[in-house]
Amino acid sequence: MKCLPLVAVLSLAIPHALGLGQESCVSFRASEGSFAVVSRGRAAPVLIAEEEWPGVQRAAADFVADIERVTGVKPSFTNATAERTPSSGELPIIVGTLGKSPLIDQVINATGLDVTNITGKWESYISRRVDNPLPGVEAAYVIIGSDKRGSIYALYEHSEQFGVSPWYWWADVPSTRQSSVYVSATGCSHGEPSVKYRGIFLNDEQPALQNWAQEKFTNGTGPPFNHFFYANVFELILRLRGNYLWPAMWSGMFGVDDPLNQFTADYYGVVMGTSHQEPMMRSTPNEFSALGLGKWDYVGNKDVIKKYLKEGVERSKNFESLYTMGMRGFGDLPLSEDTNIQLLQGVIADQTQMLQEVYGTEDVSKIPQVWTLYKEVEDYYTRGLTVPDYVTLLWSDDNWGNIRGFLPPSERNRTGGAGVYYHFDYVGDPRNFKWIISTQLQKVYEQLSLAIARQSTRLWIVNVGDLKPYEREIEFFLGYGYDASRWNHENLGEFVSLQSQRDFDVNAATATTITSIVANLTRYNSRRKPELWNATVYSLANYREAETAVADWRTLEAASTRIYNSLPNNYKPAYFQFVHHPVIASANLAALYVTAGQNNMRAIQARYSANGLAETAERLFEVDYDYELQYHRMLDGKWNHFMSQTHIGYDYWQQPMANSMPPISRVHARKQALAGIMRIVPEYTYGAWPGDNRHNCRDGYNCGDHTFHINNYDVFGSRYVDVGAGGPNAFTFTVASNASWVRLSSTRGSISTRNTEERVYLSVADWSQLHEGPNAAVVTFTSSSRDHPTLNVKVNFVATKVSPPAGFKGFVESQGVISIEAAHAQRNTPVEGVTWTELPGLGKTLSAITPLPRNEQSFAIGTGPSVEYDFVNFNTIGGSGNLTITFLLSPSLNAATDEKPLAFGVSLDGASPIRVQPVPASSRRGDPPGWGTHNGWVANAINKQTLVFNNVKTGAHNLKITMMETAVVLQKIVIDAGGIMESYLGPPESRLV
Ligand SMILES: *[C@@H]1O[C@H](CO)[C@@H](O)[C@H](O)[C@H]1NC(C)=O
Ligand SMILES: *[C@@H]1O[C@H](CO)[C@@H](O)[C@H](O)[C@H]1NC(C)=O
Repeated sequence: MKCLPLVAVLSLAIPHALGLGQESCVSFRASEGSFAVVSRGRAAPVLIAEEEWPGVQRAAADFVADIERVTGVKPSFTNATAERTPSSGELPIIVGTLGKSPLIDQVINATGLDVTNITGKWESYISRRVDNPLPGVEAAYVIIGSDKRGSIYALYEHSEQFGVSPWYWWADVPSTRQSSVYVSATGCSHGEPSVKYRGIFLNDEQPALQNWAQEKFTNGTGPPFNHFFYANVFELILRLRGNYLWPAMWSGMFGVDDPLNQFTADYYGVVMGTSHQEPMMRSTPNEFSALGLGKWDYVGNKDVIKKYLKEGVERSKNFESLYTMGMRGFGDLPLSEDTNIQLLQGVIADQTQMLQEVYGTEDVSKIPQVWTLYKEVEDYYTRGLTVPDYVTLLWSDDNWGNIRGFLPPSERNRTGGAGVYYHFDYVGDPRNFKWIISTQLQKVYEQLSLAIARQSTRLWIVNVGDLKPYEREIEFFLGYGYDASRWNHENLGEFVSLQSQRDFDVNAATATTITSIVANLTRYNSRRKPELWNATVYSLANYREAETAVADWRTLEAASTRIYNSLPNNYKPAYFQFVHHPVIASANLAALYVTAGQNNMRAIQARYSANGLAETAERLFEVDYDYELQYHRMLDGKWNHFMSQTHIGYDYWQQPMANSMPPISRVHARKQALAGIMRIVPEYTYGAWPGDNRHNCRDGYNCGDHTFHINNYDVFGSRYVDVGAGGPNAFTFTVASNASWVRLSSTRGSISTRNTEERVYLSVADWSQLHEGPNAAVVTFTSSSRDHPTLNVKVNFVATKVSPPAGFKGFVESQGVISIEAAHAQRNTPVEGVTWTELPGLGKTLSAITPLPRNEQSFAIGTGPSVEYDFVNFNTIGGSGNLTITFLLSPSLNAATDEKPLAFGVSLDGASPIRVQPVPASSRRGDPPGWGTHNGWVANAINKQTLVFNNVKTGAHNLKITMMETAVVLQKIVIDAGGIMESYLGPPESRLV
């Protein structure tokens, strides 16, 4: 594999002041009409009304503190009325919420400021300079919210642009010092967010979040998730423009652990919910179990459960709450085998009655409610269970980032709308992922943009595990929900670039480098979650796959280390948390597994060098813990415990109770191998010569020499042979070919316990000297040593010269394979305004393509937008005339409804197209066949669909893919002409002529 291309990033010359993705209204130099927040050591006083929301009062106090953080000057902050405004001589900043602030009413009255754009709107705001806002006040900068959070977002937007990152505390981002700060006369403004409720779910909080919270927010006893802890979470959510939280629930009881929790959420302005399995704002099962209320059985214990749930409503009714309706069983399991639709419908009817009674109103449609269609519940919905129109329907992803459903077109006018429950972190089948970032923003965007297109925009919630280390992804999730039109498949790199400039204070060029580091970090970790890695994920023999994977990681690590070292010390912790730690820790883990794999292989091959790799693997295993400690000890232990998640040596879906070293092997260091002193190991085999090895040939003994095939379109242009020690004895060796056209990278070498291996490359010196068809040579490796018999090992080297037809343009077979990145089509034909479009950076090796726009058009087979690929083959499988074509697709699901499953058409050489449906129709209760196990779609992060074509001649061909349904995401195409070898990513891309 070649080095992966860097993600193209638009480097914009941005002013330093920025709110991620927002328009800029802050500058650090005065300009025409600008308003001084701080200049010449004096700060504008901040005025607010006494009647204001306490949460806005609180956020305004943050705003004041943020100004001081940046400038060192603390503004005065006072309650004011029109009659009583402080006369410091400075022009004031006046903050307030429509309908809540007499001060703001007065300003609007006095200035005639037009607030119709935000009046009655959800979470909207304006800010601007006004003249004569109050008696005796010549001018002011007003910040006006349409409601509580409108004002809060406005304040934090300004803070962020002043230079206080939302992550100033949670990821230790320093603020750049400014002597002056100005806001523009026209200010900043924002309308309603794209998604109404945008939240995170703290989940599976042991061992990281819980132990940390216990250490930092309690005196060692008492529940860890108290209001001191949550206050930090609430502030972060609001600074990130979110508004919603599902609290930690495995080891917490939000409403019980600390009586101030619910109050604090409401005071800050965060809407509380509970997870999909915890109805009516009670932490279930914890609270239910703690109270000893008997069985969680709505048939047998109905009255008790009803009373219990009703208390949840009573406890929450004074706070902004979003009720989870319905019911699941204990431990997030189905309620019971025979739970039926009637029962669940009855539960919801009873819950509706509770809301009516507690809120004292017949009409509960204004109380936000959500019903999550998770696992079996989705099946009930499909089978006709209905809930009131005003209840939001929440579809989940498959826990692995593939959304299972959206609001069908027929239901789009339901007043409760629909939403998405997404995962960055997960505990369950086929394996947990909760150690480190393993999600691509490109994937998150690809899936959530479907939610935008299909109007599932009432509520988005993402499972973020321990919160850290998914900082960037959380910000993107909440930010995309806030401003869906701001981000698209082409500017996701800009998001990372802007975040880097804001949080690491780097220039645009460095930010571009960081963007590519992040793109590759998340790409490599989402090829397969680190928890699913082992010693043989990447092929140790074929396509140089394993060593390329490690080399790519090391390149990334070096690039990240250069940036880390170049940063001022006060910026290092933030960069370490966002980028550097995940890069070095993941790179080390990848190297550990590959090293263990090579060690195992070399031991079987009787190579003395296995022992050195065993030592390396043991060292890398220790380094893993070093990195964990480095994270924990940073900043005097501020983030102690956060990296304590075990992640090495998984044996089934659940986390191991300790990290365990992948198995390694050793050979006797003092004993000579049976087969002699020299070991010859060609690539593309696990075998070794001389002597026997079960990989040398089918029977594993009496095998012939190894034969290499290469043609003049080979991706690597060479084949290598490793020459290694078969024991402690030194020897020299020579390499010779019987044909002058063979180029050898070296013709001699010496091997000893200090230099245990040498690699020799075989290639063709000059293809023009060869005749068409196969040209055979024999390369002989000869050992020489005083005390041991001379060994001669031959390797056959067959160079086949091929010629594509005259004028052919397209991909050329080598080694019996044609491999094509989907983005590299020869022709791309739109139909009815829909075009197969590249999603840059998405997927395992380069990118992916999908039809855009996503307007849910369907096309009959063969009639849709198409992409065409031209290729030439010189072989068919075993000369049979068969070719297999495998499509490597992102593992998306049939989310549009089963009537419109994902599908596309494939035709070869103009034959009638074949319909491919990557995901078979299946019960909504579970996952489709092929999805699960450690070798299924989500574990492999790919859905492979293979077609066999018969009677294919050698020569030029045309492969045409036509759109049938929206949301097919195609990464790569691999055509087997008889030479495919096992690998994880598929062969590297063929040569394009
Ligand atoms: C304004 O008055 C309220 C209510 O008395 C109080 O809670 C708040 O702290 C005051 N704000 C300022 C800035 O003094
Ligand atoms: C608005 O201004 C008018 C005069 O311009 C005054 O009569 C009225 O009382 C003011 N209303 C408020 C709420 O201040």
